[in-house]
Amino acid sequence: MRTFDRGRLLAEDMVRVLILHGPNLNLLGTREESIYGTMTLDAIDASLVQLGEELGIEVDIRQSNVEGELVTWIQEARSGYQGIIINPAAYTHTSIAIRDALAAVNLPTVEVHLSNIHQREEFRRQSYVSGVAMAQISGFGPTGYLLALRGLREHLSARGSKPARSRTRSTGRTAKRNR
Ligand code: DQA
Repeated sequence: MRTFDRGRLLAEDMVRVLILHGPNLNLLGTREESIYGTMTLDAIDASLVQLGEELGIEVDIRQSNVEGELVTWIQEARSGYQGIIINPAAYTHTSIAIRDALAAVNLPTVEVHLSNIHQREEFRRQSYVSGVAMAQISGFGPTGYLLALRGLREHLSARGSKPARSRTRSTGRTAKRNR
């Protein structure tokens, strides 16, 4: 696992969103390209950091192949985060633990899938996460993550969360990733 931090010089009232990628998404770019496309996870993350800067949101992006690690990160989001975007990948269809963690932290959560899970095998149609998510975006490829961030921003604005005062300061990002 590699960890890198591009700086977190952020005001206390900054909107922070935790973005989680589940198992095998570290292989994007070479993994089943006809289904998931050729964009790497690094490129997706870079586009999220850029959009976060435009919207005044600090994005904290992590990827893990380990269910318990994802559960722990969701639990930690209770302090200092206003929303979660998660592509639980295969855990979507199996993980009551991830669902329970999301229910416990009770933050607005958007579930993202690159592929349209409703058009694929029967076992992919069930999501344990969608029952505790405010929205599910499925089938837009990498654009789905950007739509999720925009949607969450609108939702948080309507609820009164403040964007960053200075767009140029919203450069924080922590990414953890399997290589
Ligand atoms: C996925 C869909 C899941 O069914 C699959 O296990 C993944 C990726 C998607 O983004 O389309 O790994 O979540």
